[in-house]
Amino acid sequence: MTYNKITDDILTAIKQIVGEDFVVTEQDGLERYSHDETEDLRYYPEVVVKPAFTEQVSALLKLCNEHLIPVTPRGAGTGLSGGALPVMGGLLIAMERFNRVLNIDEQNLQATVEPGVVTEEFMNQVAAKGLLYPIDPASKGSCFIGGNVSHGSGGPRVVKYGTIREYILNLELVLPSGEVIWTGANTLKYSSGYNLTQLIIGSEGTLGIVTKIVVKLIPAPTVDALMLASFNSNDDACHAVSAIFRAGIVPSALEFMERRGIEWVIKNDGIAFDLAEKDVAFLLIEVDGNNQDTVFTDCEKINAVLEGFGCTNVLFADTATQKEELWRIRRVMGVSVKANSVYKEEDTVVPRAALPQLIKGIKEIGTKYGFESVCYGHAGDGNLHVNIVKAKMSDEDWNTKLKDGIRGIFELTVSLGGTLSGEHGIGLVQKDFMPIKYSPIHFELWRGIKNVFDKNYILNPGKIFNQE
Ligand code: LAC
Ligand code: ZN
Repeated sequence: MTYNKITDDILTAIKQIVGEDFVVTEQDGLERYSHDETEDLRYYPEVVVKPAFTEQVSALLKLCNEHLIPVTPRGAGTGLSGGALPVMGGLLIAMERFNRVLNIDEQNLQATVEPGVVTEEFMNQVAAKGLLYPIDPASKGSCFIGGNVSHGSGGPRVVKYGTIREYILNLELVLPSGEVIWTGANTLKYSSGYNLTQLIIGSEGTLGIVTKIVVKLIPAPTVDALMLASFNSNDDACHAVSAIFRAGIVPSALEFMERRGIEWVIKNDGIAFDLAEKDVAFLLIEVDGNNQDTVFTDCEKINAVLEGFGCTNVLFADTATQKEELWRIRRVMGVSVKANSVYKEEDTVVPRAALPQLIKGIKEIGTKYGFESVCYGHAGDGNLHVNIVKAKMSDEDWNTKLKDGIRGIFELTVSLGGTLSGEHGIGLVQKDFMPIKYSPIHFELWRGIKNVFDKNYILNPGKIFNQE
């Protein structure tokens, strides 16, 4: 595909659409839009534009479609797969001014929000009404709901409440032609044709730009309990995970962490935490509900399961502060690993019971290729984040051989019945590994879909799969 540059005439038209104050062209201003949280990749857009209304997005897309200008939509830039990087230059549409919560409908337990609303701010607004929006990625304090939609995001509570896919009822979508549609209906279900809402969720801004989001809310549970279980091996901890469900309990979070991750959180974040010498793996387990006794009974049952898997200690969080501290250890782990080492973040997901084989295999691949890894993630979902750290690997091996090691990780994941990303998306950095899981027929179907929505390939080019 051959794209055009943004000429002075096109820039003038862009300024007319959004107003001069919301157009960035100088290098300094473009810098913050040239990267996300993915490694150290940098791609500069030619121009950044910050619309605030659907009509403006529509006019911008129509203009770019007519002139074959590549367009990259961007949320908060907290992504870990390079999905928001403007790899072809062109126009970057920053959605940060779409930051309004338009309506919280307490009769229907629904809300309509714009994509630039910070996830945690929205969660707090609905919590004040006794409601829960449970999609809280680790970056909830800075990520946008629109980015979460684009990646089909998850977070720790997916294990009980489901991913964002279960909470999106309807989307206002601007197509590259400039046309605006609603993808579905503000209903809890519909059986009326192909489900465009689900197609757009996880499409990483390659099919249209979402400008309004209707979400489902649920009553907030009133009681929760949190415990941290320690183990002397990854294998014990990972085997305990599926046993908890077999004992009849669905925790509201079931997270895995390796010792090294906690050590680096302590070092980087200054959190005080006593690590017993032999403990190498940890499960952070939360149970919630509306009845104290039931929650307590579930915790006792979990305890009994853990004992059968060599658990060395269970720490119950007694106070809200202690809960907050334990959650903080888990949430800042990715940032702490990044602060401590050159690293690459890979996102793997397998059927839950395959978790012990996955982590064992990842360590073996690490030994073979000479890299270390810090693993943590949403064990209850079989979703493991693998942070590959450079350790003693030479620059040359890091830049060349490592890719084969990562390929090995994904081959293993797929052989265990899993797939590439569980929640971070494919974006730019996992794209080359897609053929491990998906056949030429999948690519043909995806290209067909892309063609129907965006025949000029202007939207977020270079992401998920190659156009040819
Ligand atoms: C987490 C992010 C990396 O779970 O998904 O910490
Ligand atoms: Zn995660």
